[in-house]
Amino acid sequence: MSTFRNATVLITGGASGIGQLMGAMAIERGCKRLILWDVRQQALDDVVKEFSVRLKEVHGYLVDVAQPEQIRGIAARTIAECGPVDILFNNAGIVVGKYFHEHTHEEITRTMTINAEGPMHVTRAFLPSMLERNSGHIISIASAAGMVGNPRMSVYASSKWAAIGWSDSLRLEMEKLGRNVKVTCVTPYYINTGMFDGVKSSLFIPINNAEKAVRRIMNGVERNALHIRMPLIVYTLQLFKGILPTRWFDLIVGRWLKVYNTMDEFTGRK
Ligand SMILES: NC(=O)c1ccc[n+]([C@@H]2O[C@H](COP(=O)([O-])OP(=O)(O)OC[C@H]3O[C@@H](n4cnc5c(N)ncnc54)[C@H](O)[C@@H]3O)[C@@H](O)[C@H]2O)c1
Repeated sequence: MSTFRNATVLITGGASGIGQLMGAMAIERGCKRLILWDVRQQALDDVVKEFSVRLKEVHGYLVDVAQPEQIRGIAARTIAECGPVDILFNNAGIVVGKYFHEHTHEEITRTMTINAEGPMHVTRAFLPSMLERNSGHIISIASAAGMVGNPRMSVYASSKWAAIGWSDSLRLEMEKLGRNVKVTCVTPYYINTGMFDGVKSSLFIPINNAEKAVRRIMNGVERNALHIRMPLIVYTLQLFKGILPTRWFDLIVGRWLKVYNTMDEFTGRK
């Protein structure tokens, strides 16, 4: 039986991209209740309306995951109105896509707050009710950029680096404490959602198709995968980074596979 059957699923950043697709697939896989959090009201209303044709209990909440106070307030409201959350996807994220020296201080803070601190505050708000019931699953969508540096990605990469370190530590804590709260970290290479529009990749590392990527995420969650990486070559990244001298790694990944040029024509979401 699917993990999603009869589950209450919450997705941050659920109004577009893979968040929206994960919502659609959670419904397909039989979830009882779908809760979407997003910072864009119109997009949220549209997706809630679209999903409500397929599932009776679809709830949208306007939340900025960069605001811990707001997260606490809306989390309490969500639990009061919808009951406890079984499966939490920390998915909301942003990218600026400039060279580091071109970032404003606000862009640095906002990227770090949404991508790195957001998952922590959202999880902090829902974890007590999961611990109380001794069940739950927390999935954080980090990025392959959290395992390797890349030009025009410095702040984004560090925010995802932080998210991976936090998620892995949380998983170990739950295991050490013998609690049945599962923790999964997802580290995809580029996905064609629009967030990274303009990015070019070599034939050796294809840009992920959003539907296929989300299917892999959902399948991974169902078998309680600790890490979900895509495409498959991402599984080898840490091994090669660990054993190769940095200049060799730069030559193979950066120059030959052209990863360090992928962001040259980045435009992103308008
Ligand atoms: N697209 C890619 O190439 C790619 C690759 C690896 C990882 N990721 C990660 O996957 C996640 C989803 O990305 P996507 O491609 O679907 O992008 P997207 O832009 O389509 O979706 C992101 C969603 O998050 C919402 N959001 C942004 N800031 C928010 C905030 N402060 N509070 C609440 N919601 C907020 C947006 O409104 C949007 O609906 C992100 O965390 C991203 O970093 C994306």
